[in-house]
Amino acid sequence: MKFYLTTPIYYVNGKPHLGHAYTTVIGDVIARYKRIKGYDVFYLTGTDEHGGKIEKAARALGKSPRELADEMVPHFKNLWKALNIEYDFFIRTTMDFHERKVAEIFEELKRRGHIYKGSYSGWYCYNCEAYIPDDAEEEDGVKICPDCGGKGEFITEENYFFRLSAFQKPLLDFYRENPDFVKPRFMMNKVVSFVEQGLRDLSITRTTINWGIRVPSDPKHVIYVWFDALFNYITGLRDQFEKYWPADLHIIGKDIIIFHAVYWPAFLMALGYSLPRTVLSHGWWLVDRRKMSKHLGNVLDPHILIEGFGSDAVRYFLLRETPIGQDGNFSHEGFIERYNADLANELGNIVSRTTAMAVKYFSGNLPSPSPALEVDRKMEEQWRELEPLIDRAFENYEFSRGLSLLWGYLRGINKYLVETEPWRSGTRDPKRTSRILLTSFKALHASLKFIIPVMPEAGEKIRKALSGPEEFSWDAYNENRRIERLDHLFPRVDKAEFFKEEKMEEKKEEKTYVTIEDFFKMGLKVGKIVEVKEAPNADKLYLLKVDMGDHQRNLVAGLRQYYSPEELLGKKIVVVTNLKPAKIRGHESQGMLLAADVNGKPYLLIVPDEVPPGSMVR
Ligand code: MSP
Repeated sequence: MKFYLTTPIYYVNGKPHLGHAYTTVIGDVIARYKRIKGYDVFYLTGTDEHGGKIEKAARALGKSPRELADEMVPHFKNLWKALNIEYDFFIRTTMDFHERKVAEIFEELKRRGHIYKGSYSGWYCYNCEAYIPDDAEEEDGVKICPDCGGKGEFITEENYFFRLSAFQKPLLDFYRENPDFVKPRFMMNKVVSFVEQGLRDLSITRTTINWGIRVPSDPKHVIYVWFDALFNYITGLRDQFEKYWPADLHIIGKDIIIFHAVYWPAFLMALGYSLPRTVLSHGWWLVDRRKMSKHLGNVLDPHILIEGFGSDAVRYFLLRETPIGQDGNFSHEGFIERYNADLANELGNIVSRTTAMAVKYFSGNLPSPSPALEVDRKMEEQWRELEPLIDRAFENYEFSRGLSLLWGYLRGINKYLVETEPWRSGTRDPKRTSRILLTSFKALHASLKFIIPVMPEAGEKIRKALSGPEEFSWDAYNENRRIERLDHLFPRVDKAEFFKEEKMEEKKEEKTYVTIEDFFKMGLKVGKIVEVKEAPNADKLYLLKVDMGDHQRNLVAGLRQYYSPEELLGKKIVVVTNLKPAKIRGHESQGMLLAADVNGKPYLLIVPDEVPPGSMVR
């Protein structure tokens, strides 16, 4: 009865956002559910700290990759704490034992003939740390990464290769024998057709990157970050490998399915290790229908939601709103609506109504109840029918369905109360009132089996208020329990109030104070647009010449979809003058202009005409 589950290890090039929280919350809910069922659980998470992506991000910030990683790790750990995530170990790929073991495994596979030296030429995406396929789209002769939409870079390298091609047949055989290896099923089908199309050997070292684990026998080569990272699932177990391997579940986002369902089992086969049982692939959280990602700059800080609604509500929303496997579109409106409907009006309301009556009529001690009537027995029968269905949904990681079934039942408790009217029988017929309340408490307490893993704080509060045992079933709860009143479990949130501009602003500002000294480091000046040309090789860009009073500057601006050249010519705008010049599509941009962003649409900040170019903005 062991259960070993993992999250991907997160890149440390930025702070965690709601997308990362999603994967980790799913894992925590599963870990808690399995623990309730008596499994010996090991839940592993951590950070992916090597590779070109981290190297580049650190360089841009003037830090060493190690410094960047050290700075980012607490952000992950704090968020997991705020979300009530109980992991058993947090692995960092820069930990000694991990680096040593990965180097050893590399040499072992080389000895066994699974790794050989060759040379590679092709397009590479540094953002995704992956090769771009030959059939990817091109823009101006540059391959575009099909995953992130970023530009590829052409590289030629001498590399070590893993003989992935030799594993095509063993992998296909394995999928055939284990059709549930990847869940949901449609993702399994994608993987199978990917492998059926043929596998090329995989380059697993880089000579263009410094930050990573070196090949001991050929230290010019740094081990490919994905080869390094995947083995965290083994090194992270440290001396508990024998006990917990193979992994029962790897939870991942759909963008990294090929790494986990093709490369990873192939590496393991080559080593002669047993293979993980299941890879669960979830969809993306989108904002305005685009994937939430650091790269696109549209990420949502989970702390804001946690502060506003509590971690339970965030956990519940993430699991309930979208079935795992599908993409979900995040909106604050949707969040508040679900919170009010399911948590404030349904669960919170039942708990406060029933506990209030128990305290008001009986000071919290239910008298011995009258025999159950048909209507009371129906609540029990329904639960006995429903419980295995919800259990199956949870076991299949179909949380949205499981929770929707459970909430159907909770609504049933509310209806039961309306029908049986315990406030009428009250203290006039204490035995009947006691039966009704006891039935409601039994129903609530049994539901905790599914509520606690998803909402551990609220679930525990309910259990304590009912003084229920830690075994969650209809029969485990009886009348000899002391009830305490529990109100305001999920206070209703007023949507209009929440969206009041100041409130949102306040929340944002708290996190992003800068000092006045910081502010004065910015060079902000007024400039006048004196020339507007369309960039020849990019249909979204203008090349602007701007008169800054004492000199002219070239700016590259992505305004073509929003402004005509006539609208721009002669306008006075605000320019950031001390931004490091950057090449955009081959044109140097010597600064940046300021615009307000309304759902992705820029509105230029236009300065009154009487202000001369070169004036300082402060
Ligand atoms: N470092 C690799 C994983 C190596 S595992 C051996 C990586 N890191 S990541 O930080 O980019 O992403 C980690 C996880 O977060 C992935 O499962 C990814 O799908 C998930 N998400 C990142 N953005 C997401 C959304 N917008 N929505 C849902 N999940 C997303 O990949």
